[in-house]
Amino acid sequence: MEIRKVAVVGCGLMGSGIAQVSAQAGLTTTVLEATPALLEAGMGRIRKFLDGGVARGKVKPEDRDATLQRLSGGTDPAACRDADLVIEAVTEDLKVKRETYGRIEPHLRAETILASNTSSLSITEMAAMTTRPGRFVGLHFFNPVPLMKLVEVVRTVQTQPGVEEAVTAFARAIGKTPIRTTDRTGFIVNRLLVPYLLDSIRAVEEGVGSIVDIDQGMKLGCGHPMGPLTLNDLVGIDTTYFIANIMFEEFREKRFAPPSLMKRMVMAGFLGRKSGRGFYDYTVEPPRPNDFLAAR
Ligand code: 3HC
Repeated sequence: MEIRKVAVVGCGLMGSGIAQVSAQAGLTTTVLEATPALLEAGMGRIRKFLDGGVARGKVKPEDRDATLQRLSGGTDPAACRDADLVIEAVTEDLKVKRETYGRIEPHLRAETILASNTSSLSITEMAAMTTRPGRFVGLHFFNPVPLMKLVEVVRTVQTQPGVEEAVTAFARAIGKTPIRTTDRTGFIVNRLLVPYLLDSIRAVEEGVGSIVDIDQGMKLGCGHPMGPLTLNDLVGIDTTYFIANIMFEEFREKRFAPPSLMKRMVMAGFLGRKSGRGFYDYTVEPPRPNDFLAAR
């Protein structure tokens, strides 16, 4: 089965990136959001990214325009009816996911593949909420989606023959490198990344080094593109906190337990870039370490 038409449900940070790369690769792409305001915010993010690409000479103006023409958006789930592949990228909440599948599935063809971009929830559990568990997979993208090359393709014990191959070909067609994994909480990348991100917060708690020095350590000592505290801020402290809690519940291992500083940052609204403050303060240019944390 060849994927030609794609629908993305949820146009937040991840959904807008997924819709963008799909349309950029030449696929007719529809985005669904709950409200016109959320849709406009997501579409605005896509336009801004493409404009940034044009300004950097990475995207031709005509390709930006063609991408935007291949993209349509709406709030009516019937817009998914022609899709060969529907990628769900809504809030990481099983209740919200269940409601979403219930709303869109009546409009889908029997052969349409449904995929979730979840980072930590069980694909098998979500597949069981649908009428097509054999045609339900995980497609886990990375932030920022247009720049990160990887997609984790997650199969379950129920995945029908041909489904994994079809979404793997789709991932390649949109310029990503797919890797195969089974439905184990955290898949491959978060299984390894989350303990590392949590350990960097423990290093701050224990005063091993300053925020800047911990980041420099991993950038310059290990060749990482950004330090772990900057990465925590990029992913969102609340997002990683949420994932860590699910992984801790699943594996009951200390390495997945969120440190108390992290919990307090979430409660204080220091969520990273999206809230203006995390380990760094993004309300100033260039960002500098968050004074509140230094004074804690
Ligand atoms: N359009 C097109 N290209 C763009 C662009 C745009 N709007 N903005 C930037 N680019 C290009 C740049 O031109 C540059 O290209 P080049 O390498 O050919 O010169 C490249 O993208 C990098 O951009 P910048 O130079 O502006 O920025 P950096 O070099 O600092 O890279 C980064 C930014 C790619 C985000 C890099 O820092 C990085 O890889 N960080 C790690 C991110 C990461 O680990 N993400 C995964 C998070 S975990 C996750 O998502 C899973 C979830 O479940 C938690």
